[in-house]
Amino acid sequence: MKAQIKISKDSVISKIDDRIYSSFIEHLGRAVYGGIYEPGHATADDMGFRQDVMELIKELNVPMIRYPGGNFVSGYNWEDGTGDKALRPRKMELAWGSIETNEVGIDEFQEWAKRASSDIMMAVNLGTRGADDARNVVEYCNSKTDTYYANKRRENGFDEPFNIKLWCLGNEMDGDWQIGTKRAGEYARLACETAKLMKMVDPSIELVACGSSGPFMETFGEWEETVLREAYNHVDYLSLHSYYGNPENNSQEYFGSAVIMDKFIKDVIAICDKVKEEKKSDKKIMLSFDEWNVWFHSNEQDKKQEPWQVAPPLLEDMYNLEDAIVVGDLMIALLKNSDRVKVACLAQLVNVIAPIMTVTGGGVWKQTIFYPFKYTSLNGRGTALKADIECESFTEGKAVDIPAVDAVAVISDDESEVSVFAVNRKIGEDAEIELSLEGFEGYKLTEHVSMEGDDLKAGNSIDEPDKVTPVEKCIDGSIVLTGGSWNYLKFKK
Ligand code: AHR
Repeated sequence: MKAQIKISKDSVISKIDDRIYSSFIEHLGRAVYGGIYEPGHATADDMGFRQDVMELIKELNVPMIRYPGGNFVSGYNWEDGTGDKALRPRKMELAWGSIETNEVGIDEFQEWAKRASSDIMMAVNLGTRGADDARNVVEYCNSKTDTYYANKRRENGFDEPFNIKLWCLGNEMDGDWQIGTKRAGEYARLACETAKLMKMVDPSIELVACGSSGPFMETFGEWEETVLREAYNHVDYLSLHSYYGNPENNSQEYFGSAVIMDKFIKDVIAICDKVKEEKKSDKKIMLSFDEWNVWFHSNEQDKKQEPWQVAPPLLEDMYNLEDAIVVGDLMIALLKNSDRVKVACLAQLVNVIAPIMTVTGGGVWKQTIFYPFKYTSLNGRGTALKADIECESFTEGKAVDIPAVDAVAVISDDESEVSVFAVNRKIGEDAEIELSLEGFEGYKLTEHVSMEGDDLKAGNSIDEPDKVTPVEKCIDGSIVLTGGSWNYLKFKK
């Protein structure tokens, strides 16, 4: 097939907020224990943080990491993870049916995040707790006052505040799996009052209200409206969560995932702007897509795990090539909406539905999804430009109309590079691309890499860590996007 991609310097979507390349570490499975933290491991540093894992995280250049959950946060007492480790309680962790030793908490995680050159996006517990504990943890983390919680932090060895700037008001509070599920009205009141108190303690923080747990929820839509009507003036972002998968083994339909994500984002923007109109407000609510990824491979194996283990192997999806193509495409959808999506977190980062995997006591390896995330995170900084595309569409499964080709461009701040991220979703049919860059005289294609291959089900493992890696394409004047591929093209002045 033939397709046209037109990119003009004038078609600006938005300056991209770097936090669109954020990720997530939850106290879940082997994300923390056996993932980022393993005292006694050959690569552990003075605090027990694995340096082999740290190196791969740095390779992804992740600006911010959401912590400590996820479902975990809705039953969590943040104080359990502070102070003398010998006195920390060992607890039943109800969200995932595990044992939480509390060896790692905010005291350690803030130091780990500094070493990883990442900021923290911190979630407060609005499941079993509320406004009082939320304002206390803000004081502990951010205050310089001579008051109880700020002094507790000093006693625990941290004179300087941690300065955590972005906070989530709970997690997925409409989900019946959530500890302390709420009705929309209940959550709206709680989020509003909690937000007020947290901002009284530190007016410089920004807050994310929980949107519905996903577009499939019965609550979706009405939940968002109720929450925003109540809390509009006190919050800055609304959260979106969505996971994609191929449980029916229909790869062609699966390749329409980004079209579904795009629609979800647009639906949430419409709700935010409807409430803005109603309130006659000048303020625009921005979106925090703080959980997105592919998640379905591990669902069955997780049911077989015995409860009450410390750091059991949960949500350990083994990703393949088609998952990597979908992840790259989902990032294109996020960038296409970067005028409103200011924060996005690949959920998650290590061992739990993650690009980075470890063997406890052993090595570390990269999953297939590591690569599109890395290329986009490293090269997708600057200003997003809309790509006008003419191509075939096809209809498959749930997504009504799937354009075979999609793309977005990013111009670097110094204008020396234009990066084009593109997919060909049509399996088995290559796309010959006529690509025009208007307003970019003198820019030449210098690099074309893709995620493609004959076996969409091929994946990496500790034994075959490089089975699926990016393919360096030959630069010979023509641009072909292989049928079923994700691509990165770099143009340099
Ligand atoms: O990321 C895994 C889980 O997915 C999170 O704990 C929860 O918020 C979501 O349901």
